[in-house]
Amino acid sequence: MRTWYKYLVIEEADPVRLEKDRAAQEHQKTMGGYSTDRGYASKEEFFRTYVSGGDRRYRYYHEALKECLNKEEAGLSIGSGRCGNELFLMEEGYNIVCSDLENYCEERTSDIFEKMKFVKYDVMAGPFPGKFDYIFSLNVLYLFPREQLLKVFQHVAESLKDGGRFIVDPGGAEDNLYTALIDNWGVRWDAQAQAFLKTMLKRSKKKVFKKHHGYRCNNKEFVAVAEEAGFKFEGLKTSDYVTELKDRMLLFHGLPESAVRLLGWPIPYVRLFNFRKIQ
Ligand SMILES: C[S@@+](CC[C@H](N)C(=O)[O-])C[C@H]1O[C@@H](n2cnc3c(N)ncnc32)[C@H](O)[C@@H]1O
Repeated sequence: MRTWYKYLVIEEADPVRLEKDRAAQEHQKTMGGYSTDRGYASKEEFFRTYVSGGDRRYRYYHEALKECLNKEEAGLSIGSGRCGNELFLMEEGYNIVCSDLENYCEERTSDIFEKMKFVKYDVMAGPFPGKFDYIFSLNVLYLFPREQLLKVFQHVAESLKDGGRFIVDPGGAEDNLYTALIDNWGVRWDAQAQAFLKTMLKRSKKKVFKKHHGYRCNNKEFVAVAEEAGFKFEGLKTSDYVTELKDRMLLFHGLPESAVRLLGWPIPYVRLFNFRKIQ
């Protein structure tokens, strides 16, 4: 496992904290926040904007989760954020409680969804008060170093019924030589080129800041931590061979997805692990 840094191209005078974000709100700001609201006009627009027509990851999650969840079972989502996938599944009849440190879009969401179930929950603080058939978590666990990751798995295990499942995408491609080269060289030099171009075109000085984003772990390490917490590994599904290159580097931005996919096959951005709590 290694620390994952991102390179921000911003105004030289903009205030920026380069250490890991402390508060959830701070990390949301770094990630672009949940402020877009064109999708809150109606349920249909919400799903079109944030799931079916949104980020390629969320389309994949919807289909993959439907394949392994059961409408009769009770589920919990941890770190639900905007709750796009959760609300779509609930709309189709799945019984899911959303949770996060904050309900970031509470007012806008309650305007269009009457029956959303949301509970404030910090997975680091302890087990959830209640037991579920399954728990899922998308793009949250990259925030935790190994010791905290173990705690998270232990708390999840304690919040599951015997034999319950934990379906989890830690967020981002795994730690391997390819992502190490991208993080340490590719993204860094691409950011320098972007700063240069933006400074020339916009005539205001842009600078590159190296910011702590979270942690990258490889698949083996992730499974080992889960097993230490009492889970059995039941499978891994991967998808999205594009985001790690195309959305992070100007160099790949203009290329068609089919071309980027060929280069990105060793670094899928989606890694959906399936674990079962050992009884
Ligand atoms: C990158 S967002 C992902 C949101 C959503 N699952 C998605 O895929 O769009 C990470 C989320 O994890 C939440 N989070 C961070 N630390 C947490 C914790 N200790 N317990 C529960 N949620 C946490 C944040 O508030 C944030 O909403």
